[in-house]
Amino acid sequence: MLCSSTDGQTRRICEQLRAQMQEAGDAVTLTMIEDARDASPAGFDMAVVGARIRYGRTDKRVVAWAERHAAQLNAMPSAFFSVNVVARKAGKDRADTNPYVQKFLRHAGWRPRMLEVFAGKLDYPRYDPLDRAIIRFIMWVTGGPTDPKTVVEFTDWARVRAFGKALCDAPRGRAGSSSYSDSGTISIAPQGHSETQTPQPLQ
Ligand SMILES: Cc1cc2nc3c(=O)[nH]c(=O)nc-3n(C[C@H](O)[C@H](O)[C@H](O)COP(=O)(O)O)c2cc1C
Repeated sequence: MLCSSTDGQTRRICEQLRAQMQEAGDAVTLTMIEDARDASPAGFDMAVVGARIRYGRTDKRVVAWAERHAAQLNAMPSAFFSVNVVARKAGKDRADTNPYVQKFLRHAGWRPRMLEVFAGKLDYPRYDPLDRAIIRFIMWVTGGPTDPKTVVEFTDWARVRAFGKALCDAPRGRAGSSSYSDSGTISIAPQGHSETQTPQPLQ
């Protein structure tokens, strides 16, 4: 499991997913992107990548890592999720409707078999003054909270746990192993909906 997190929310989500997978009997290695220079998916049965959004972008180190390992990732079970506050909004709260997930897919050359997006956390007191001012402005434009004392967690933990369950249930297999065949992308529907499987051709 590879994680990009500046303020800790994506890391907390990764830790929840890791706990579920460990409870189900998996050995999980969680690596932060800053420590991932030499990390490779080789030798693992599944790759899970979680990345936060800042200023409209997925961490460029994650994009570069995914590009570098795309061939291997495409040949093994893999999952990607993005964490951002746009995902708090209906209509942008699914992997197939969230603009950051879609942009990542266009650029990374990797077709994760499982995709998710989680709404993150807004923590104005934690941000430096410039970041705080800019995020408040974006929130003002998009109808979000602007009080500089606001700390609000938009993350739907039930949905995180549902994704964790889907990861636990997903087939394992190493790149090149004959027991693994890739058959499409699974996206997990928001809470209240049943899990959906959307076959999509791999490109
Ligand atoms: C400086 C900054 C820029 C951000 N830019 C965006 C953005 O462009 N779009 C968005 O949806 N969320 C944005 N966010 C919200 C983060 O994605 C959200 O706080 C997330 O929980 C951060 O994950 P992390 O705690 O793992 O770093 C931004 C947050 C900060 C602090």
